[in-house]
Amino acid sequence: MIWFTALACVNSEETPAEVDSAMPDPSPPTWHADVAPIITTSCGSCHTEGGIGGMALTTLAEVTAWSQAIYAAVESGSMPPWLASDGCNTYEQDFSLSEAEVQAVLDWIDADMPEGDPAEAVAAEPWQAPSLERVDLSLQMPAPYTPVGEPDDYRCFVMEWPYEEDAWVTGYAITPGNLAVVHHAIPFLIPPEDAATYRALDAEDPADGYSCYGSPGGGVTALTSSRWLGAWAPGSGAAVTPEGTGIQVKTGSLVVLQMHYYIDASPGSDQSSLDLQIETEPQGWADVQPWTNPAWLAGAGMEIPANSTGVTHTFQYTAEASFAIESALLHQHTLGTSGRLSVIHEDGSESCLLDIPRWDFNWQRAYQLVEPQIIAPGDVITLECTWDNPTDQDIAWGDGTGDEMCLGVTMLSEAP
Ligand code: HEC
Repeated sequence: MIWFTALACVNSEETPAEVDSAMPDPSPPTWHADVAPIITTSCGSCHTEGGIGGMALTTLAEVTAWSQAIYAAVESGSMPPWLASDGCNTYEQDFSLSEAEVQAVLDWIDADMPEGDPAEAVAAEPWQAPSLERVDLSLQMPAPYTPVGEPDDYRCFVMEWPYEEDAWVTGYAITPGNLAVVHHAIPFLIPPEDAATYRALDAEDPADGYSCYGSPGGGVTALTSSRWLGAWAPGSGAAVTPEGTGIQVKTGSLVVLQMHYYIDASPGSDQSSLDLQIETEPQGWADVQPWTNPAWLAGAGMEIPANSTGVTHTFQYTAEASFAIESALLHQHTLGTSGRLSVIHEDGSESCLLDIPRWDFNWQRAYQLVEPQIIAPGDVITLECTWDNPTDQDIAWGDGTGDEMCLGVTMLSEAP
């Protein structure tokens, strides 16, 4: 590794002080020694033949053919699509690029993409999204649906929960039916007492499912009364609850699968499904918990005035019990510019859970913490969202395309 050599050179005791000017220019990175392992590890699981990234980036020829687009995407940070900032927390399946890796890719393209010596090839594996151990229930959209809209279509599909006794979901995975049109998907778990509301929404719309932007609909509190059974965005895999815990589902519940379709050049139909791993023996407590200010849902305090920039709203919730936070996701709509979820402890110290400095509506994923964050009573969960509103309309919380939201979604479990 050339970076290592340069560093070793500067730090070496024998190195004269004028080392910088005396050192020859380092040779550029090469495909085999430097760039191929980066591309394989951080791009390979999506940019493979038939993968969700569209084009394969597996061989030198493929990467060379896409080099200008890769340069722009890597330099701007739009690829790989990892929104969490460094230095906040550490996550499973972190496929982001370090600064040195970004520089290596850019330097390599600047140097006209030298192949280097195949003998220096470094073995690398693409990161893999996790999968479920077994599938006990597979809920599929009732029929193939052909999205309509220019270019977005948000459609919710109501699916009956078939268990006639209480059950515990210990893992979930969403399988998109058609990667060409599915942009992301969120299954909401609707409690039995709200089921009638959702059946009515479904019945009102003559086509399959019903239209639903940003939340499953069913009134402003739906987002916080319903729980999420996962979230799929390109690159998401399965999630499992911690050993011995599960998300309790009552008989008579519904699953409402919200699909965000994006129709580009190639419309087509989709029939996505949700795979679940289920226990019928009682499990320890795990839950998907959204965090947001109830007042915002009621229409107060989250105003984003017309023609404003950098408007920030903050919500704080003081925990009354102990629990563990396993993963974190942020949800805003398209005017969001940044978001952050953190915990302020009683001694004033802060634990950052998820920090998204450049919000992008298209890449919402749950970031799985390597070390669960233990919350003690008195800890303050802090949610912060920032927006720019270039429109002539004042904007507040709402389900519509032009409305906004600010939500943290966490998977919780019993504190150890
Ligand atoms: C989690 C999946 C995923 C990973 C990892 C990923 N990509 Fe992508 N990439 C996509 C998808 C999906 C698209 C299609 C465009 C879109 O929907 O934004 C895309 C599009 C692109 C494009 C087309 C132009 C653009 O910017 O939209 C380039 C270039 C690109 N990716 C390069 C890379 C490189 C280089 C890496 C690794 C450093 C990478 N991608 C990692 C999913 C991924």
